[in-house]
Amino acid sequence: MEQDTCHSLKIQHIPDMSFQKIKSIAKNFCRNLPEYVRDELYEQLERGCDLITTEPQLQQYIYSFGNMHEAKLNLAFDNVPKEIFDYKDIAVIDYGCGQAMATMVLADYFKENNYNIENIKSINLIEPSFRVLERAELYAYCLYPQTTKIKTINKFMDDLTKEDLYQEHSLVIHLFSNILDVESFSLEQLADTIKESKYQSELFICVGPYFGEFSERQERFDYFSELLGYKTIFSQYYSKGEWQNNWTCSAKILSNIRPNIEFAPVNCANRVKSVVSGTLKEFPETNKMSIRALVEGPDENGEMSERIVFVGWKRDAPVPEIGCRLQMTHWRNHDEATEGFVYTPIILDEDWKMPEKEE
Ligand SMILES: C[S@@+](CC[C@H](N)C(=O)[O-])C[C@H]1O[C@@H](n2cnc3c(N)ncnc32)[C@H](O)[C@@H]1O
Repeated sequence: MEQDTCHSLKIQHIPDMSFQKIKSIAKNFCRNLPEYVRDELYEQLERGCDLITTEPQLQQYIYSFGNMHEAKLNLAFDNVPKEIFDYKDIAVIDYGCGQAMATMVLADYFKENNYNIENIKSINLIEPSFRVLERAELYAYCLYPQTTKIKTINKFMDDLTKEDLYQEHSLVIHLFSNILDVESFSLEQLADTIKESKYQSELFICVGPYFGEFSERQERFDYFSELLGYKTIFSQYYSKGEWQNNWTCSAKILSNIRPNIEFAPVNCANRVKSVVSGTLKEFPETNKMSIRALVEGPDENGEMSERIVFVGWKRDAPVPEIGCRLQMTHWRNHDEATEGFVYTPIILDEDWKMPEKEE
C-alpha cells in the first residue's frame, strides 16, 4: 500500500473518507495548476489507455474523469436488484481497477443507500501499474471497514490465473469500469479464467463509454457478455446528447442469480409537461421520492401520448422540473407476476463544455 507520501498521510487522517472527498482533493490540486500544465497532464493520460506512471497524472485522472465514471457506476448500481447488496458475504473483484474508482463509488453507494458495507468481506484489486495499484489499495483501505480484506494483484489481465481469482465468499461482484474496451487483453481468455473459478453466485457490473453500434471497441463490450453466457438483467447505452453532460455511456449488468425484479429501459424521449399537485411520496427504504406528473412522449407501444405517472428521483437530487427529460423503464416482478413502468429524470446540464478537462 502507498505509504510515507504526503498524500497517504493526508488521506489516512481525513475522517469518514469517501470518493467525494477524494474528488475534491484532486480538484483542489488541479485547479491550482496553470491551465497549460493541466492540459499537458490531460494529454499524457491519453484518455486512460496508457499506464499511469506519475503522481500528478493520478490526480488529473480523478479530476478529469471522476464525475463521469461515478455517474455511470451509479446508474448501474441503481439497477442492481436490491436484495443482492443485502447478501451477507460478498467479494468484489475490480478488474483494471486503476485507482479503484469503481470500488470507491461502490463504498459511497452502500453508505448513501443504507446498505451494510460490512457485507463486503473482500476487495480484490487487479491492475498492472504498481504505482496506481498502491494508491488503489490506500483508497480501498480508507473507505472500507477493517473487517474487509483487501488483496492486490499486480498483473495484466492475460496473466491472471484462476488462483488469483479464487474466492471463498458466496456472492462475487465483478466490476469492469472503463476496461472492457481496452484492446490489449484477450476477452476469451479472461472469460475462461472466470468460468473456471466456478463461483456460486455472481454479478457482473460493466460500464464504459458508448462508441456507437459498429465500433470494434463497443463490440468488445457486448462480446464479453456473450462469452460469459449469463443473463443480462440491465443494459443501457447512451449516445452523446442522450444523457447527462453530453457523456456517452454503456452500462450492463449480468448475473447467474435470478432476480425477483427485472428492469428494461424502453426509451428516453418522454418529458414532464406539468406537475400534478398535491402528491409527494417518500420511500424511506429505497431513499427515493416521487411526484405525480403529466408526461408527454411515446408510450409503451411507441405511440405519442400524454399520461399522468409517478416520476421518481433520489433524495437530495434536483427535483424534476417541467421540460425535464425522462427515462422510461419497464419492470417485471417474477415472484408476484406483476409489471409496470417507472420514470426517472435525465438531468442535462446546459452549461456543460468539456467533460474531459473539467470534471
Ligand atoms: C481507463 S482506465 C480505467 C481504470 C478504472 N477501472 C476506472 O474506471 O477508473 C484503464 C485501466 O486499465 C489498466 N490496464 C491497461 N491495460 C491493461 C491490461 N492489459 N490488463 C489489465 N489492466 C490494464 C490501466 O492501467 C488503467 O488503470
